[in-house]
Amino acid sequence: MGKEVIIACDFPDRQRLFTFLNKFLDRRPFLKVGMELFYSEGPDLIRVLKSNGFRVFLDLKLYDIPNTVGRTIKNLVNLEVEFISIHASGGKDMMLAAKESACGRGTKLLAVTILTSISQCHLKSELLIENTLDESVKHFAKIAYACGIDGIVCSPFEVEIVKTSFNDLLCVTPGIRYFNETDDQKRFAQPAQAKEFGSDLIVVGRPITGAVDPVESYEKIKSEFI
Ligand code: C5P
Repeated sequence: MGKEVIIACDFPDRQRLFTFLNKFLDRRPFLKVGMELFYSEGPDLIRVLKSNGFRVFLDLKLYDIPNTVGRTIKNLVNLEVEFISIHASGGKDMMLAAKESACGRGTKLLAVTILTSISQCHLKSELLIENTLDESVKHFAKIAYACGIDGIVCSPFEVEIVKTSFNDLLCVTPGIRYFNETDDQKRFAQPAQAKEFGSDLIVVGRPITGAVDPVESYEKIKSEFI
């Protein structure tokens, strides 16, 4: 799979999404639909996007008992999206159940390791994890790989350490920023840094959706990453 910039479409409803997409006219960017939009618009929106030629990463970050996640993936793969996300911290049995349901279908599974909004300090004080971020991400990458999961979601800073051991595991990295902004992302990097670290795909939301000129911002990020 080639390098891609995926736009995180964190909008409240389809009207806001379509207004945004109208700016892109003949372009067909790779889109990420997450909980906010999916919970308000449901699977019908995904069918509309797919029938209009968009590639979709359905970022629902599933985390439940293996039976529930397996059955949910069985439903979701019918939408024929490119990627669906689950949490690696749901454990091996959950990831194996997800894999079994996605097997032989066109959808790839991505396992979220440690959210890019979590800092080393949070990891220790709130999640009571004594290992470093690198060790934790590498551990989740290892168990995801063992379960046959196609890729992981991590910050650009952990890509090198993951690729050293699991070169064919896709590394999808959100947390893309130019400046030390004051929003929720804690482990962020610029598009060129993500490229240098070896990210396969970057996920970018607010730096594009909140830009004065979203198309210009998208093209700039693309030119620096690809
Ligand atoms: O607006 P921003 O660029 O921060 O958007 C990043 C997107 O990536 C959000 O939709 C968020 O849900 C998602 N994401 C993330 N960190 C992860 C996994 C997904 O920021 N570890």
